[in-house]
Amino acid sequence: MSSENRSHFSASCSGVTEEARAKINLALHVTGQRADGYHLLDMLVTFAECGDRLGFLPAQADAFTLSGPFGETLAGDSGTNLVLRARDLLRETLGALAFPVHIHLQKNLPIASGIGGGSADAAATLRGLMRLWGMSLPVESLSSLALKLGADVPMCLESRPLIARGIGERIEAVPQLPAFAMVLANPLKGVSTPEVFRRLAAKNNPALHLAPGLSGTSGWLTAIGSARNDLEAPARELVPEITVILQMLRAHGALITRMSGSGATCFGVFTSMAAAQEAASALHGERPDWYVQATETVSGGM
Ligand code: C5P
Repeated sequence: MSSENRSHFSASCSGVTEEARAKINLALHVTGQRADGYHLLDMLVTFAECGDRLGFLPAQADAFTLSGPFGETLAGDSGTNLVLRARDLLRETLGALAFPVHIHLQKNLPIASGIGGGSADAAATLRGLMRLWGMSLPVESLSSLALKLGADVPMCLESRPLIARGIGERIEAVPQLPAFAMVLANPLKGVSTPEVFRRLAAKNNPALHLAPGLSGTSGWLTAIGSARNDLEAPARELVPEITVILQMLRAHGALITRMSGSGATCFGVFTSMAAAQEAASALHGERPDWYVQATETVSGGM
Protein backbone atom coordinates (compact mmCIF):
# COMPACT_ATOMS: atom_id res chain seq x y z
CA MET A 1 0.00 0.00 0.00
CA SER A 2 1.38 3.44 -0.84
CA SER A 3 1.91 5.96 1.98
CA GLU A 4 -0.87 8.07 0.45
CA ASN A 5 -3.32 5.17 0.72
CA ARG A 6 -2.15 4.20 4.19
CA SER A 7 -2.94 7.67 5.49
CA HIS A 8 -6.61 7.20 4.61
CA PHE A 9 -6.83 4.24 6.98
CA SER A 10 -4.81 5.48 9.93
CA ALA A 11 -6.01 9.07 10.06
CA SER A 12 -8.00 8.69 13.25
CA CYS A 13 -8.51 6.14 15.96
CA SER A 14 -12.24 6.93 15.85
CA GLY A 15 -12.48 5.53 12.33
CA VAL A 16 -12.97 1.92 11.27
CA THR A 17 -11.69 -0.11 8.32
CA GLU A 18 -13.22 -3.10 6.53
CA GLU A 19 -11.84 -5.56 4.01
CA ALA A 20 -14.00 -6.26 0.94
CA ARG A 21 -12.69 -9.66 -0.07
CA ALA A 22 -12.91 -10.90 -3.64
CA LYS A 23 -15.77 -13.38 -4.08
CA ILE A 24 -14.88 -16.53 -6.00
CA ASN A 25 -17.57 -18.74 -7.53
CA LEU A 26 -16.02 -22.21 -7.32
CA ALA A 27 -19.21 -23.44 -9.01
CA LEU A 28 -22.21 -21.63 -10.50
CA HIS A 29 -25.10 -23.72 -11.83
CA VAL A 30 -28.06 -21.96 -13.41
CA THR A 31 -31.08 -24.12 -12.58
CA GLY A 32 -34.07 -22.01 -13.64
CA GLN A 33 -35.55 -18.54 -13.99
CA ARG A 34 -38.05 -16.65 -11.83
CA ALA A 35 -41.05 -14.85 -13.24
CA ASP A 36 -39.27 -11.49 -12.70
CA GLY A 37 -36.40 -12.60 -14.97
CA TYR A 38 -33.83 -13.30 -12.23
CA HIS A 39 -32.11 -16.66 -12.59
CA LEU A 40 -32.12 -19.40 -9.98
CA LEU A 41 -28.62 -20.43 -9.09
CA ASP A 42 -26.71 -23.03 -7.07
CA MET A 43 -23.33 -21.58 -6.12
CA LEU A 44 -20.34 -22.80 -4.16
CA VAL A 45 -18.58 -19.62 -3.12
CA THR A 46 -15.39 -18.79 -1.30
CA PHE A 47 -13.55 -15.54 -0.56
CA ALA A 48 -9.94 -14.52 -1.21
CA GLU A 49 -7.51 -12.68 1.04
CA CYS A 50 -7.12 -10.06 -1.70
CA GLY A 51 -9.78 -7.42 -2.13
CA ASP A 52 -10.75 -3.78 -1.79
CA ARG A 53 -10.33 -1.89 1.47
CA LEU A 54 -12.68 0.70 2.94
CA GLY A 55 -12.11 3.32 5.64
CA PHE A 56 -14.91 5.14 7.50
CA LEU A 57 -14.38 8.35 9.49
CA PRO A 58 -16.84 10.70 11.22
CA ALA A 59 -17.02 13.94 9.18
CA GLN A 60 -18.73 17.34 9.07
CA ALA A 61 -20.47 16.32 5.85
CA ASP A 62 -20.65 13.11 3.82
CA ALA A 63 -17.62 12.59 1.56
CA PHE A 64 -16.36 9.80 -0.68
CA THR A 65 -12.78 9.41 -1.94
CA LEU A 66 -11.06 6.77 -4.03
CA SER A 67 -7.58 5.39 -4.45
CA GLY A 68 -5.96 2.18 -5.64
CA PRO A 69 -5.18 0.79 -9.10
CA PHE A 70 -8.86 0.84 -10.23
CA GLY A 71 -9.97 3.92 -8.27
CA GLU A 72 -9.89 6.21 -11.26
CA THR A 73 -12.21 3.95 -13.24
CA LEU A 74 -14.92 4.58 -10.64
CA ALA A 75 -14.44 8.34 -10.31
CA GLY A 76 -17.47 10.25 -11.61
CA ASP A 77 -19.76 7.29 -10.95
CA SER A 78 -20.98 8.62 -7.58
CA GLY A 79 -24.69 8.42 -8.54
CA THR A 80 -24.68 4.66 -9.04
CA ASN A 81 -21.80 3.60 -6.81
CA LEU A 82 -22.92 0.72 -4.60
CA VAL A 83 -20.95 2.07 -1.63
CA LEU A 84 -23.02 5.26 -1.59
CA ARG A 85 -26.25 3.35 -2.22
CA ALA A 86 -25.40 1.09 0.76
CA ARG A 87 -24.67 4.15 2.97
CA ASP A 88 -27.95 5.83 1.98
CA LEU A 89 -30.06 2.69 2.40
CA LEU A 90 -28.60 1.93 5.83
CA ARG A 91 -29.08 5.54 6.93
CA GLU A 92 -32.73 5.43 5.79
CA THR A 93 -33.18 2.35 7.96
CA LEU A 94 -31.28 3.61 11.02
CA GLY A 95 -32.48 7.22 11.04
CA ALA A 96 -31.06 10.37 12.64
CA LEU A 97 -28.19 8.81 14.61
CA ALA A 98 -26.40 7.91 11.37
CA PHE A 99 -24.05 10.94 11.39
CA PRO A 100 -22.08 12.19 8.34
CA VAL A 101 -19.18 10.03 7.26
CA HIS A 102 -16.11 10.21 5.06
CA ILE A 103 -15.82 6.89 3.22
CA HIS A 104 -12.58 6.02 1.48
CA LEU A 105 -12.49 3.15 -1.00
CA GLN A 106 -9.16 1.67 -2.01
CA LYS A 107 -10.17 -0.06 -5.24
CA ASN A 108 -7.79 -2.96 -5.80
CA LEU A 109 -10.15 -5.28 -7.73
CA PRO A 110 -11.00 -4.74 -11.39
CA ILE A 111 -14.50 -3.40 -12.13
CA ALA A 112 -17.29 -5.65 -13.52
CA SER A 113 -15.06 -8.67 -13.31
CA GLY A 114 -17.09 -11.50 -11.73
CA ILE A 115 -15.35 -11.45 -8.36
CA GLY A 116 -17.92 -9.31 -6.60
CA GLY A 117 -15.97 -6.08 -6.24
CA GLY A 118 -19.01 -3.77 -6.11
CA SER A 119 -21.04 -6.23 -4.03
CA ALA A 120 -18.15 -6.80 -1.61
CA ASP A 121 -17.74 -3.01 -1.27
CA ALA A 122 -21.47 -2.60 -0.53
CA ALA A 123 -21.36 -5.38 2.09
CA ALA A 124 -18.22 -3.89 3.69
CA THR A 125 -19.99 -0.51 3.80
CA LEU A 126 -22.92 -2.03 5.70
CA ARG A 127 -20.54 -3.76 8.15
CA GLY A 128 -18.27 -0.71 8.55
CA LEU A 129 -21.04 1.85 9.03
CA MET A 130 -22.82 -0.27 11.62
CA ARG A 131 -19.55 -0.38 13.57
CA LEU A 132 -18.89 3.36 13.12
CA TRP A 133 -22.43 4.33 14.02
CA GLY A 134 -22.47 1.86 16.91
CA MET A 135 -25.70 0.24 15.77
CA SER A 136 -26.84 -3.20 14.79
CA LEU A 137 -29.74 -4.72 12.92
CA PRO A 138 -31.28 -8.19 13.24
CA VAL A 139 -29.58 -10.62 10.82
CA GLU A 140 -32.74 -11.01 8.68
CA SER A 141 -33.25 -7.23 8.30
CA LEU A 142 -29.60 -6.78 7.35
CA SER A 143 -29.67 -9.52 4.72
CA SER A 144 -32.88 -8.24 3.15
CA LEU A 145 -31.38 -4.75 3.04
CA ALA A 146 -28.26 -6.27 1.42
CA LEU A 147 -30.38 -8.09 -1.16
CA LYS A 148 -31.91 -4.76 -2.23
CA LEU A 149 -28.38 -3.67 -3.22
CA GLY A 150 -27.70 -6.75 -5.35
CA ALA A 151 -28.10 -10.53 -5.44
CA ASP A 152 -24.47 -11.11 -4.36
CA VAL A 153 -24.42 -8.63 -1.46
CA PRO A 154 -25.89 -11.00 1.22
CA MET A 155 -23.15 -13.57 0.56
CA CYS A 156 -20.47 -10.85 0.60
CA LEU A 157 -21.76 -9.84 4.06
CA GLU A 158 -20.72 -13.33 5.18
CA SER A 159 -17.35 -13.35 3.35
CA ARG A 160 -16.67 -16.98 4.25
CA PRO A 161 -17.17 -20.24 2.34
CA LEU A 162 -20.83 -20.93 1.62
CA ILE A 163 -23.40 -22.42 -0.68
CA ALA A 164 -25.93 -19.89 -1.99
CA ARG A 165 -29.19 -20.83 -3.67
CA GLY A 166 -32.23 -18.96 -4.98
CA ILE A 167 -30.84 -15.81 -6.55
CA GLY A 168 -28.12 -15.82 -3.89
CA GLU A 169 -30.17 -15.11 -0.77
CA ARG A 170 -30.50 -18.66 0.60
CA ILE A 171 -27.14 -19.07 2.26
CA GLU A 172 -25.61 -22.02 4.08
CA ALA A 173 -22.08 -21.91 5.55
CA VAL A 174 -19.58 -24.56 4.43
CA PRO A 175 -17.20 -24.82 7.41
CA GLN A 176 -15.44 -27.85 5.90
CA LEU A 177 -14.17 -26.04 2.79
CA PRO A 178 -10.36 -25.76 2.94
CA ALA A 179 -8.24 -22.76 1.91
CA PHE A 180 -6.89 -22.87 -1.65
CA ALA A 181 -3.78 -21.33 -3.23
CA MET A 182 -5.13 -19.47 -6.23
CA VAL A 183 -4.24 -17.26 -9.17
CA LEU A 184 -6.86 -14.79 -10.44
CA ALA A 185 -6.49 -13.49 -13.99
CA ASN A 186 -8.60 -11.00 -15.93
CA PRO A 187 -7.98 -9.38 -19.34
CA LEU A 188 -9.38 -6.08 -18.00
CA LYS A 189 -12.43 -6.19 -20.21
CA GLY A 190 -15.51 -5.44 -18.11
CA VAL A 191 -18.43 -7.83 -18.59
CA SER A 192 -22.10 -6.85 -18.23
CA THR A 193 -23.81 -9.44 -16.00
CA PRO A 194 -27.31 -8.90 -17.52
CA GLU A 195 -25.80 -9.35 -21.02
CA VAL A 196 -24.19 -12.68 -20.04
CA PHE A 197 -27.48 -13.94 -18.56
CA ARG A 198 -29.31 -12.82 -21.72
CA ARG A 199 -26.97 -14.94 -23.88
CA LEU A 200 -27.39 -18.04 -21.73
CA ALA A 201 -28.93 -20.73 -23.97
CA ALA A 202 -30.21 -23.24 -21.37
CA LYS A 203 -31.76 -21.99 -18.13
CA ASN A 204 -32.67 -25.36 -16.62
CA ASN A 205 -29.36 -27.05 -15.97
CA PRO A 206 -28.61 -29.80 -13.45
CA ALA A 207 -28.36 -28.65 -9.82
CA LEU A 208 -25.11 -28.66 -7.83
CA HIS A 209 -24.73 -31.87 -5.83
CA LEU A 210 -21.90 -32.12 -3.34
CA ALA A 211 -21.51 -35.45 -1.57
CA PRO A 212 -22.08 -35.16 2.17
CA GLY A 213 -18.95 -35.46 4.30
CA LEU A 214 -16.52 -34.10 1.67
CA SER A 215 -13.15 -33.53 3.29
CA GLY A 216 -9.54 -32.74 2.49
CA THR A 217 -8.23 -30.58 -0.33
CA SER A 218 -8.13 -33.37 -2.91
CA GLY A 219 -11.70 -34.53 -2.10
CA TRP A 220 -12.99 -30.98 -2.52
CA LEU A 221 -10.99 -30.38 -5.70
CA THR A 222 -12.44 -33.54 -7.27
CA ALA A 223 -15.96 -32.39 -6.38
CA ILE A 224 -15.36 -28.84 -7.63
CA GLY A 225 -13.72 -30.20 -10.78
CA SER A 226 -16.90 -32.05 -11.70
CA ALA A 227 -19.07 -28.95 -11.13
CA ARG A 228 -19.51 -26.09 -13.66
CA ASN A 229 -19.95 -22.41 -14.26
CA ASP A 230 -22.91 -22.27 -16.65
CA LEU A 231 -22.13 -18.63 -17.46
CA GLU A 232 -18.73 -19.50 -18.92
CA ALA A 233 -20.01 -20.27 -22.45
CA PRO A 234 -22.02 -17.04 -22.90
CA ALA A 235 -19.21 -14.97 -21.32
CA ARG A 236 -16.68 -16.47 -23.78
CA GLU A 237 -18.80 -15.13 -26.66
CA LEU A 238 -18.33 -11.62 -25.28
CA VAL A 239 -14.70 -12.01 -24.16
CA PRO A 240 -12.83 -14.66 -26.19
CA GLU A 241 -9.73 -14.09 -24.00
CA ILE A 242 -11.44 -16.21 -21.31
CA THR A 243 -10.52 -19.35 -23.27
CA VAL A 244 -6.91 -18.17 -23.49
CA ILE A 245 -6.71 -17.35 -19.77
CA LEU A 246 -8.01 -20.79 -18.80
CA GLN A 247 -5.47 -22.47 -21.10
CA MET A 248 -2.63 -20.34 -19.73
CA LEU A 249 -3.54 -21.10 -16.09
CA ARG A 250 -3.52 -24.83 -16.91
CA ALA A 251 -0.21 -24.52 -18.77
CA HIS A 252 1.29 -22.96 -15.62
CA GLY A 253 0.25 -25.92 -13.47
CA ALA A 254 -3.27 -25.14 -12.18
CA LEU A 255 -5.02 -28.23 -10.81
CA ILE A 256 -8.45 -26.77 -11.59
CA THR A 257 -9.45 -23.72 -13.64
CA ARG A 258 -12.81 -21.98 -14.00
CA MET A 259 -14.39 -18.61 -14.61
CA SER A 260 -15.89 -16.80 -11.59
CA GLY A 261 -19.37 -15.24 -11.63
CA SER A 262 -20.30 -13.74 -14.99
CA GLY A 263 -16.61 -13.22 -15.84
CA ALA A 264 -14.24 -12.35 -17.09
CA THR A 265 -11.99 -13.22 -14.11
CA CYS A 266 -10.84 -16.84 -14.13
CA PHE A 267 -9.09 -18.66 -11.34
CA GLY A 268 -6.63 -21.53 -11.14
CA VAL A 269 -6.09 -23.58 -7.98
CA PHE A 270 -2.45 -24.50 -7.30
CA THR A 271 -0.70 -26.99 -5.02
CA SER A 272 0.85 -24.25 -2.84
CA MET A 273 1.13 -20.47 -2.52
CA ALA A 274 4.72 -20.74 -3.82
CA ALA A 275 3.41 -22.46 -6.99
CA ALA A 276 0.62 -19.86 -7.30
CA GLN A 277 3.08 -16.97 -6.95
CA GLU A 278 5.42 -18.51 -9.53
CA ALA A 279 2.55 -18.99 -12.00
CA ALA A 280 1.28 -15.44 -11.37
CA SER A 281 4.66 -13.87 -12.11
CA ALA A 282 5.06 -15.99 -15.26
CA LEU A 283 1.56 -14.99 -16.44
CA HIS A 284 2.24 -11.35 -15.62
CA GLY A 285 5.45 -11.55 -17.67
CA GLU A 286 3.50 -12.93 -20.65
CA ARG A 287 0.49 -10.59 -20.34
CA PRO A 288 1.61 -7.44 -18.47
CA ASP A 289 -1.63 -5.71 -19.53
CA TRP A 290 -3.83 -8.18 -17.58
CA TYR A 291 -4.83 -8.21 -13.91
CA VAL A 292 -3.01 -11.19 -12.39
CA GLN A 293 -3.06 -11.86 -8.66
CA ALA A 294 -1.86 -14.77 -6.52
CA THR A 295 -3.97 -15.10 -3.39
CA GLU A 296 -5.09 -17.56 -0.75
CA THR A 297 -8.77 -18.16 -0.13
CA VAL A 298 -10.16 -18.31 3.40
CA SER A 299 -10.94 -21.70 4.89
CA GLY A 300 -14.43 -22.52 6.15
CA GLY A 301 -13.07 -22.86 9.68
CA MET A 302 -11.31 -19.47 9.20
O1 C5P B 1 -28.47 -8.27 -8.46
P1 C5P B 1 -27.40 -7.77 -9.36
O2 C5P B 1 -27.38 -6.28 -9.47
O3 C5P B 1 -26.08 -8.33 -9.05
O4 C5P B 1 -27.78 -8.33 -10.80
C1 C5P B 1 -27.42 -7.71 -11.99
C2 C5P B 1 -28.26 -8.27 -13.11
O5 C5P B 1 -27.87 -9.63 -13.37
C3 C5P B 1 -29.75 -8.36 -12.82
O6 C5P B 1 -30.39 -7.16 -13.17
C4 C5P B 1 -30.18 -9.49 -13.71
O7 C5P B 1 -30.32 -9.05 -15.05
C5 C5P B 1 -28.99 -10.43 -13.70
N1 C5P B 1 -29.13 -11.49 -12.70
C6 C5P B 1 -29.95 -12.59 -12.95
N2 C5P B 1 -30.07 -13.58 -12.04
C7 C5P B 1 -29.38 -13.52 -10.87
C8 C5P B 1 -28.53 -12.43 -10.59
C9 C5P B 1 -28.42 -11.41 -11.52
O8 C5P B 1 -30.58 -12.66 -14.02
N3 C5P B 1 -29.50 -14.52 -9.99
